[in-house]
Parts: sequence; structure tokens; C-alpha cells
Amino acid sequence: MKSIYMIIADDINESIQKGELKPGAKLPSIRTLTNKYNCSKNSVIKAYETLKNNHVIYSSPKSGFFIAETLDRGQFKRDTINFHSGNTVIGNMNTEDLKHCLKWASDIYKNYSLESGVYGIDSLRDKLVTHLSNYQIFTSRDNIFINMGVCQTLSTLNALEFPNKKTTILIEQPTYAMYMEGLKNSDTHVIGIERDENGIDLKELERIFKEESIKFFYVIPQHHNPLGTTLSKNQRKSIAKLAKKYDVYIVEDDYFSCIDENKNYDPIFSYSDRKHVFYISSFSKIMPWMRIGFIVCPTSLIEALRECMHKIHFFSYPTASLLSQATLEIYLQSKLLYKHTSLITADLKNKYNVLNENLKSLESLGVEVVKEHSGFYCYLKLPELVNEDILVKELEKSKVIVGHGKRFYFDDKFYKKGIRLSIASVSDNDIIKGISIIEEKLKMFI
Ligand SMILES: Cc1ncc(COP(=O)(O)O)c(C=O)c1O
Repeated sequence: MKSIYMIIADDINESIQKGELKPGAKLPSIRTLTNKYNCSKNSVIKAYETLKNNHVIYSSPKSGFFIAETLDRGQFKRDTINFHSGNTVIGNMNTEDLKHCLKWASDIYKNYSLESGVYGIDSLRDKLVTHLSNYQIFTSRDNIFINMGVCQTLSTLNALEFPNKKTTILIEQPTYAMYMEGLKNSDTHVIGIERDENGIDLKELERIFKEESIKFFYVIPQHHNPLGTTLSKNQRKSIAKLAKKYDVYIVEDDYFSCIDENKNYDPIFSYSDRKHVFYISSFSKIMPWMRIGFIVCPTSLIEALRECMHKIHFFSYPTASLLSQATLEIYLQSKLLYKHTSLITADLKNKYNVLNENLKSLESLGVEVVKEHSGFYCYLKLPELVNEDILVKELEKSKVIVGHGKRFYFDDKFYKKGIRLSIASVSDNDIIKGISIIEEKLKMFI
């Protein structure tokens, strides 16, 4: 049964939503509500305190309580089903823990200011060392650089000269679109290797490592974007072995590492000689309120990376803001991070069920669904008859936004006609409705 203070608070919220109470309106006195609800003075005070803490009302000394201006910024295009965005919405996450960690962080770091250097806060780097050991990443504080996420890391590594003196970057095809956009705007020489449901062809990888001048291979072993797949253990081990044999660096993007769908997963780093792998990650998928990521750098490159980070300081701050770092530290210290990620994992599992159930209707139209899902993404290979340019536009007219498959390919050589669906910011109902609209539009071609 609801407590009386919650009933009072809910009634006030409802009157605001109905427009009966407008911003600036004065609320009844405590005595008036005590009589109306036939309750104690404390219940009314608690109701007002709760609303105040939620920024719904404010108090003015000696005058009473008033309705606050609405601070709700609404949501971007509420009527759109967004299968395109790879970012979750803050309000879908547990913000109570966030508020708690933010408050704790601002108290603990009250004597600090903006300076946190090129590496980030030492105590956070220490906590990351412990955190990473849960994922078979055994490293030390000195190897960790805290920064603002994967995109920043990739642009830094592009600029960095590697000891192997090689110049070409090898990417999977398909791969992370933002990185490819960055590469297209640089004068870096790039080549691709096909990645599909079965992973990558190791013989072809060996040939490329042997014959081409590969500086590093950028690979997303798990939660692949856009395929949603994971490389097998054998493939991850072999990549580590080939990297050592041919003196090629691996840039291992484990951007969604804390999502524990596959408990037996070990990263490429864990099979490597530690000298040839940059393990890079980010918290932007699970903590969309801040940009923070990190690099585990091979020891021989720490100094070169430090210098490079120092140089870019002028163009963009290399490390995340103090409050972001402090908040992450509290999440790690209090173990709230693991509560947070297990909630996200459970939510994702439910969404996969809804997704899989609904995708069956598309399969009957000849769509090939890349079956394994992990992370947010799922790739749909379209039948020859379908013109994907028209499909994407038609869907947009019906307010369903999807990712055009071509975005994830560097050139047409590897392109598999298709679209990417992301379940990061859609509800179960959106999935059901969105897929039935996709089905309807596909029927135009068949
Ligand atoms: C493969 C991959 N890596 C990294 C990221 C996140 O990068 P950042 O840390 O720059 O937000 C994404 C976001 O969608 C991604 O798909």
C-alpha cells in the first residue's frame, strides 16, 4: 500500500501534468493538506521534501512552497522509432545510483580542481587495474591512460608513430562507422578484411600481416558493430599469435566490455605477449551522462603515447573531466558498477527475445538475420530485389530510422546489402511496431 506522503506527492504531480497547477503557483499550506488528507504534519512535510528533491517544487523562506519551472527537456522526437542510435537514454538507467555517486564524488574531491594530467587520476587508474583483472586484463597503473573514449583513442593512435615503422591500418569490413569517417578524412592508407558471422579468415589475415605494411589491426572482437557477433576463442588466440609473429599491433576495441553476456569470454589481450596489443574501452554505452574511456598501452609505447597526448592537449583535452573520473571511481569503489551492468545485461536479454521473436516475420520475406546478438546491434542482410536506399527513405517517412548498411563499409568491395538495427534506445513496443513497419515496407519490393 502507498504511504500517505506518496499519495500527496503523486496527486500534486498529477495536477501539474493536467495543467491545473502551473509554474509559480503557490501550494496549499501544510495545515490545509493535513486536514484534507487527514494525516500528520510530518507526512505533508515529507511529500513536499520529496517533490523538492525531485526539483518539482521549491520553497521560499516565510512564503511557502511553489511549483518550479519545468526542467524536463523532453525527449528527442518522441514519435520516432530510433533503430539508428547506438546510445541509450539517461532516464532509462538507474539514476538514483548516479546521483549518489555524483554527490559522493563531489564531496571526496572537494579539494581538487581541473588539473588531472595526461594520465588521469591515479586512484581511478588503480581501481581500473582491479576492475580489469575481472576480465583477464592483468596490467598496472602505469599502462593506463584515462581519456574521453574510443574515438579519441583512435585518432591519437592514428597520429602516433609505432615502433614497427609500418604505415597501413587494417580494419574489419564492416566496422565502426565513426572510425571509418575519421580515416576517410585523413591521409592514412587503409585496407580491409572481411568479417562475417564466422568471424575472419585467418589465412587471409596471415597473408595480409605478412605481405602488407600493417601498423595495426583495428578489431572489435565482441559486441561487433554492426554485426552484433563475437569472434571465437580460437580466432582471438590466433590473432594474438599472428600479431607477435609479424610484429603487427592489435587495437582491441572492447567498448562494451562490462556487459557480461558471455561469461567465458577472454579478450585478445589475455592471449597476447602484452607487447602488441592496445586494449581500449569506454563507458559511453553504459554511462551515457559522461565521456570517459581508457587505453591499456604496451609498456614500450607509454612514453611515446604520453608525448602524443601532451601535444594534443592544445587541440582537445586528453583526459576526462575530474567529476567524470571521480564518479566512475565511486562506481568502481562501491561496486555499484556491477549492479548497474547486471541491470543493463538483463534488460538487453529481454530485448533480444522481443527482437528475435519479431524478426521471424522478416526472415519469411528472405531477409537474412545475422543470428547471434550481443551488445546493441543486429545486421539484416536484404534480398537482391530490395533497393536499400529506397527502403531507408520509406522507413524514414514512416518515422522509423535505421542505419544504412553502406555506412559500415569502407568501400563497396566487401559490402553486403543490408541495414543495421540498434536496440540501444528503443522500447519493446518500438521493436514490435518498428519491425512490423519494416515488414510492410519490404513487401513493396517483393
Ligand atoms: C565499436 C565501437 N567502439 C566504440 C564506441 C564508443 O566510442 P566512444 O567511447 O568514443 O563513445 C562505439 C559506439 O557506438 C562503437 O560502436
